[in-house]
Order: sequence, then C-alpha cells, then structure tokens
Amino acid sequence: MSSEQTLLSLDLGRRSYDIHVGNGLLTMAGELISPLMRHPRAIVITDKNVEKYCLSPLESSLNAAGIDHQSIVMDAGEQTKDYAHAEDLTGRLLDARVERSTMLIALGGGVVGDLVGFSAAITLRGLDFVQIPTTLLSQVDSSVGGKTGINMPQGKNLIGAFHQPRLVLADIGALETLSPREIRSGYAEVVKYGLINDAEFFAWLDSNGQQVIAGKDEDGADARQHAVVTSCKAKAAIVSEDETEQGARALLNLGHTFGHSLEAKTGYGDALLHGEAIAIGMVMAFDLSVRMGICPAEDRDRVRNHLENAGLPVNLHGLIENDWSAEELIDLMGQDKKVTAGKLTFVLARGIGNSFITDEVEMTDVVAVLEDYLKA
Ligand code: GLY
Repeated sequence: MSSEQTLLSLDLGRRSYDIHVGNGLLTMAGELISPLMRHPRAIVITDKNVEKYCLSPLESSLNAAGIDHQSIVMDAGEQTKDYAHAEDLTGRLLDARVERSTMLIALGGGVVGDLVGFSAAITLRGLDFVQIPTTLLSQVDSSVGGKTGINMPQGKNLIGAFHQPRLVLADIGALETLSPREIRSGYAEVVKYGLINDAEFFAWLDSNGQQVIAGKDEDGADARQHAVVTSCKAKAAIVSEDETEQGARALLNLGHTFGHSLEAKTGYGDALLHGEAIAIGMVMAFDLSVRMGICPAEDRDRVRNHLENAGLPVNLHGLIENDWSAEELIDLMGQDKKVTAGKLTFVLARGIGNSFITDEVEMTDVVAVLEDYLKA
C-alpha cells in the first residue's frame, strides 16, 4: 500500500485550508486537527456504515491528541440529507452544549459532509468543521469547496450555505471498504476534471483508470492517490477563483444539468447513483455539443468508450419506463439551480479538456438529444 501523502491548499485568504491526501490519515487526524482548535473539544458525526470501519481509528487519534470528543451516528443514505435530519442533528448538537469553539468532524461520504457542513453553518451562526471524506466521490468533489446543504421535495441541494471546512483529510485507505459500484460512481467525477480542462489527465486516466477503480496492490493505491490529488488540485484552483459560483465554478457542473434530471426522475436512490447519473449526463453534454457542431464526434466517442470501459452507464438502458419523456426531463432540469433568468445553463465541450458554460442552447437540440436516448 502506498505510504505517499500529499498536502494541497485551497487559497481563500483568511479562510484558506489544507487538503491532505494519503493513506493512514484517519490515524493522524487528532494531531492534524489539534492546532486548528481554540479548545480541544470535537463532535464527530458519521453514519452507520462508516462507523463500522472508520470511527474507532479516528477516536483513537483524537484520544492520543488529547481532544475531548463524542460521536453522533446518523442513518446512512441520501434520505438522511433533509430538513428533518438537519433539525435532529442541530438539536443534538445543542443538547450536547456545543460552543463556538467546538469543532465538528464530518466522517463519511457526501451525505454526511453536506449535512454536517450545513449544520455547522447554521448552528450558533457558524461552527468550525473538518471534512474527513471516506468515499471516492466525496474525496474528489463534495468535501472540497464549502458547498453544504440538504435536499428538498422540490429538488436536490436547494437549501444550503457556502461554509468552508477548516481542513480536509482524504484517507485513501478508507476507499478499500467501498463496493466496486460506489468506486465507479466516484470515478465519474474524477473523469470530469479531465473533461473540463485537463486533456492530459484524461489521457492518463485512459491508461490508468482501471488501476484507480481496482485499487489493488501498491500500483492501484498509487493510481488512486494520483487521481484524488489531481482532482482536488483542479477543484481547489477553480474554487479559489470563484468560491460562490458566479462564473468558472459552474464548469464543475459538467454533466450535472442532464444528470440531476435523471436522478430526480429515478428518485435519488439505488436505481441510479449520483456518479452514474453524471456519467450519462457527461455523454449527453458531449452529444449536445456534437449536435451543435462545436465538438468533434471522435471526442464524444472517446468519452463514451472510456466511461463504458470503466463500468459506468452511458445510456438509459434498464432505466427507462414508459412514462419518460424529453419534456419531463427538461422540466426537471428547470427545477435545478442551474437556471438564470429562466434559462437553463449547460456546460458544453469544444473537445476533451475544453469545456465552457453557456445558456445559448436551442431547446430543440436538447429535446433531440434526449429523444435519441429515450428511443435507444
Ligand atoms: N460539486 C460542484 C461544486 O462543488 O461546485
């Protein structure tokens, strides 16, 4: 297993923070968090799945660093990311008599990170928190950049706050407990960084993606380390330029306009995981770009083949029910946050590594792309 560790930083002036990527970070968490604390007290929030594998090494490292701590274990799954659970969690934090100096620690995947981050943002008007992401998806995307929030019946992540963590610890070793399907789902977000602005990284993934997914032996661990480091570096660069998504940060939504509508339609559950929806959504975005005459078809084909070889879905086979229509999917896109003055925003591509944001898209082209998928 690789013992390499990499230290990155996200530059946001006084709110800058470190991102550590490496194996064994859980056992070093106490010593890394301790210097950030005004008072050595932390509350760890995790879920029932992550508790089994990761809570005990984290607690030992907090003990070793002399940090007083207690833990709250939530139910696992996307349904935990709602108002009721945010109310429950913030109530439990108040019952535990948190103070402004208490550090929250989000130990888990994107659901835990988003819920804890949001609860940290609103409790006592803002508590510090640390992200310890344990899934590939949260290590390469959601734990970095300060987007926190919960889902509403009207749509995903519609209530939330930008609230940056004080530190991110991405322990590559934690990925070993994930199912292959979860790894592949996170891998879609890794590929996204290549497609946005890094053709060289996409080429590296073409040669090494299978190692990233398998993660076996030292080569696999090294490949995962490189993939997570490159992804976090790319995300940190974009977020430090545009923290609150006034411009460039929207590039990180490549595949998400289409993908979120598929997730909404399939109920945000096991039928289609987030990364799987994003994989299909990214191919749809390339399809739309090809249809609009701005992207070579070979690039779209390379993207589709790459994702398919990674074991990700690239079409709607097995998902479509009779009642699916292009109009309904477009309506679901309109309930997302990617709407400005009533117009949908898309991230399109001039090629691999050359994505851009636009609202200049003819809806007839979007309908045509969706209808091709619904027919197939
Ligand atoms: N997940 C996209 C972003 O953080 O902006």
